[in-house]
Amino acid sequence: MLPPALRWEDDMLQILDQRRLPWEVKYVLCRDHEEVAFAIKNMVVRGAPAIGIAAAYGVVLGVKNLSLSKLDEIIETLSRTRPTAVNLFWALERMKRRARLSSSWRELLEEARAIHDEDIKANEAMGLYGAELVPEKASVLTHCNAGALATGGFGTALGVIRMAIRQGKSVKVFADETRPVLQGARLTTWELMMDGIDVTLITDNMAGYLMSKGEIDLVIVGADRIAANGDVANKIGTYSIAVLAKYHNIPFYVAAPTSTIDLGVSSGKDIPIEERNPEEVKEINGVKIAPDGVKVRNPAFDVTPNQLVSAIITEKGVIRPPFEKEIPKILGR
Ligand code: MRU
Repeated sequence: MLPPALRWEDDMLQILDQRRLPWEVKYVLCRDHEEVAFAIKNMVVRGAPAIGIAAAYGVVLGVKNLSLSKLDEIIETLSRTRPTAVNLFWALERMKRRARLSSSWRELLEEARAIHDEDIKANEAMGLYGAELVPEKASVLTHCNAGALATGGFGTALGVIRMAIRQGKSVKVFADETRPVLQGARLTTWELMMDGIDVTLITDNMAGYLMSKGEIDLVIVGADRIAANGDVANKIGTYSIAVLAKYHNIPFYVAAPTSTIDLGVSSGKDIPIEERNPEEVKEINGVKIAPDGVKVRNPAFDVTPNQLVSAIITEKGVIRPPFEKEIPKILGR
């Protein structure tokens, strides 16, 4: 069975160390909010929904060790970890609201557990809505890891695939390796293979070739932040795939819980994009692949403009263009 990305045990948070996968299955024990912040920043845990859940438990640990009076400080530390996935800020905001009504860390634990449980349910609902878009026999391209490792449940993009397979559809998956952190090569292939799902690994630059050969029927990816107009920030490389999908007339779907939608940003231009350590680009698994001193760019995410998105699959239903009009409707705003 797939080990969960996060588990709360003995009043501490255990985080599956995704830096070590697929070679080693090890949990990192987090006893305070600073250890949780370190784990988020260093991608021990990654994936937008999982980051949000971890941060919520981080608030619990912070208040448990310090006190409710230190809440702002605790939240500030957790919020200074990764800037792009809005689920982090959404979860911290929710914990802050709950803290105003709470007198002990145990009440905050209830809220963190609720965030975790709701994400599991959201994955299932998204899976059901999304599976309707998957043909009886389909070859799906996915990018990065939007699976069980990135969420509380069985995943967003990979949840849709899992649900379609549960319904008896014949689905095979192509996983982009996702340079430079290799979430596709290390994580997506691993979790799909654990479930006996047909997965084929490709390097990021092979997608266009496979599309031109008619080997991809649809693309499904996750998201880190969706702007009010439907622009989607997701793992670097997603935009290139969306352009390729448009050119080849292949549907490009984004699966994400509504907690990933940020009505506070009107378009993708306003989404902060994390720039990570250049060493990630210069090395693979500690082995140098470029000359010392070379200049490097390492944006961790890109923005796919809404015109390239066929639909957004959420736990409340499938959103089709025009997104500016349809997103508020589904959110009940
Ligand atoms: O840098 P990461 O690994 O946290 O980036 C993850 C992604 O871009 C995922 O596609 C996204 O968070 C959706 S996860 C359900």
